[in-house]
Amino acid sequence: MGTISSKSSDSSHGGREGGGQLYVSLKMENFRIRADLIPHVYGSVPIIGSWDSAKAFSMERESASMWELSFVVPPNHETLDFKFLLKPKYRNSPCVVEEGPNRVLTGGTLEGDARMAVFKLRGDEDVLECKVFIKADIVSPFDLAASWRAYQENLRPSRVRGIPDITINVVPDSGVENGSAASLELDLEQYVVPAPTTSSGVVYAANLTESPRSLFHTGISSKSGITSNSLHSSTKAALSSADCSNIRKDIEVTVPEPSRAFPISGMVESKSVGTFSTFQKQDGQRGLFVDRGVGSPRLVKSASASAFVSDLKLDAEAKGMPAAAGAVAAAAVADQMHGPKEDCRLAIVLVGLPARGKTFTAAKLTRYLRWLGHETKHFNVGKYRRLKHGANQSADFFRADNREGLEARNEVAALAMEDMLAWMQEGGQVGIFDATNSSRCRRNMLMQMAEGKCKIIFLETICNDQRIIERNIRLKIQQSPDYAEEPNFEAGLRDFKERLANYEKVYEPVEEGSYIKMIDMVNGYGGQLQVNNISGYLPGRIVFFLVNTHLTPRPILLTRHGESLDNVHGTIGGDTVLSDAGELYAKKLAKFVEKRLKHEKTASIWTSTLQRTILTANPIVGFPKIQWRALDEINSGVCDGMTYEEIKKNMPEEYESRKKDKLRYRYPRGESYLDVIQRLEPVIIELERQRAPVVVISHQAVLRALYAYFADRPLKEIPHIEVPLHTIIEIQMGVTGVQEKRYKLMD
Ligand code: F6P
Repeated sequence: MGTISSKSSDSSHGGREGGGQLYVSLKMENFRIRADLIPHVYGSVPIIGSWDSAKAFSMERESASMWELSFVVPPNHETLDFKFLLKPKYRNSPCVVEEGPNRVLTGGTLEGDARMAVFKLRGDEDVLECKVFIKADIVSPFDLAASWRAYQENLRPSRVRGIPDITINVVPDSGVENGSAASLELDLEQYVVPAPTTSSGVVYAANLTESPRSLFHTGISSKSGITSNSLHSSTKAALSSADCSNIRKDIEVTVPEPSRAFPISGMVESKSVGTFSTFQKQDGQRGLFVDRGVGSPRLVKSASASAFVSDLKLDAEAKGMPAAAGAVAAAAVADQMHGPKEDCRLAIVLVGLPARGKTFTAAKLTRYLRWLGHETKHFNVGKYRRLKHGANQSADFFRADNREGLEARNEVAALAMEDMLAWMQEGGQVGIFDATNSSRCRRNMLMQMAEGKCKIIFLETICNDQRIIERNIRLKIQQSPDYAEEPNFEAGLRDFKERLANYEKVYEPVEEGSYIKMIDMVNGYGGQLQVNNISGYLPGRIVFFLVNTHLTPRPILLTRHGESLDNVHGTIGGDTVLSDAGELYAKKLAKFVEKRLKHEKTASIWTSTLQRTILTANPIVGFPKIQWRALDEINSGVCDGMTYEEIKKNMPEEYESRKKDKLRYRYPRGESYLDVIQRLEPVIIELERQRAPVVVISHQAVLRALYAYFADRPLKEIPHIEVPLHTIIEIQMGVTGVQEKRYKLMD
């Protein structure tokens, strides 16, 4: 007998009045269906197509014995009149149509008995009987979109604490709309409150980089002042080697062997090129490949130590905790025990033509490494150039055969490198060196300067997408100080394109040393990431971060849960439900999300596994909700359930220790803020990887840590960042960086 496994016209499942659609799934099962016969469905227009067997819909093979076809029935076409048929795969021989009358499905209800599908293959002797399953459900369009996305991303619902990890509720339950109390003004701008940082305006990323120390120290910041005398003698030697190829062909340029340029004693001397593809290619030509050096435990001698040199004392008197937790601290300890000192410092040297997104990539990487606890600074050579030579240099300045221009550019690059190396000597750990560095000569100069002082990894950004290049060029003219005094946009555009052409003429892709190449990865679709001669903990993390980032604009909404009963009682931790005010916020938040994301095709809601966040997400409909353990509130260990007053009274030493160093303080049997940051790293990577909007409903300490990442706030500030209840922090991720907006929905 065939089976109708489900039929629902229940309006609580997003009834037709609510815009639900009839979703039909037809299945047919028999182990004996021959491989040369493909099950099909055909029937009345317009759903199935036609009673013409040539136009029948093919069913998909779900398993060895099961075939399936599912589709959405548009409104006003609710009666389906259809039959199954078997179509020969190769021959033009006739189809075998199932015996018996047509099957009629009206509004999800099957007329008559469900029955087996009977096919006479060769007359009465060879009869094939297939089990039939017909499932009809009314589903909201949101639900369909979300489940399609969940299906595509291979999400499998699992259960933790009896609550599904992934849920999609489509029920606009009548209790949600609690009169006017939960309603929200149409104009969301009314709820905007000032953000504590200045990041709401567009800031040109290069402006946020390090101040050119050498120029200020020597008092040289005008066009006239600088001479090579202000440079160290070793720098001058390196600089002279950079004045090469295009102008002085007579000077011989020596490109050091990687082993000379980078002190890599003790490392596996692998020189292999690996490629990360951001999508899995079906043909298997190029799968996910990581240079065999990356992540090898034998090779843990990353640059992650120096930031902690002052904190990490391995002798018996060591008291201080490292400035970061877990893996980062472990790598720092390992680095102190092994490896040459220069390996503890890492220079990421950007390489690429102008308008390839180098500065944005550099800024992002700087933010990420700082957040992980690595002492990181971003040095932008353009900033040095502007200070030394003025912002309004024409394209001529960038001609490779312009000796003066070339010398001037190499000189400011050398100054920036000197500053970076000096900063590393003082304890700096990762320097991001941001310039085109597009000739081998220039890179040679940098390698000479860095020899014995730090390890260099070149990070080359390659973009072949003309639309993206064009967009970047336009942004450059609008935002770069180089064109601030150019009133004519078109003239600026012409000049910049000429500058670009000057660079293109002499561009030499990186083929030397350790490098990472990002090829067409800006928009997050496809692209490639190639790595060569990369090893160690930190370089491995950098590669992982880069493979997951892109510049697709999308909002990330951060909010604490609605007020909980613990909040009302002033107790920390716990897992209580929402207060009345908290419930009201949950309803307002649902309205907000509905309005704010109404034009988004898809989005997801992330909560912790604690009730107060799940309940806050509850009224939000139409988007998949995902619970993350990593989003749970800071674990207050033995203090869980106490008020701050009680801790002060009963555990004064704990109270004082926390007050003294809230970042590093770890609750007995609980967590510190550093622990929280460490467990949030996968969340950050996933937020970077997502292309659709995400709503994160979590807790105070966790949101402080997440917010600090986006707002680039120093680690020490994290425990004190203001994240009020009933307020949404909107982080707009975009091509020009990160912007912030806050909405306060209620007190
Ligand atoms: O008070 C609410 C709460 O989320 C507690 O559960 C948590 O311990 C605390 O905030 C974290 O904030 P702080 O680090 O300032 O104590």
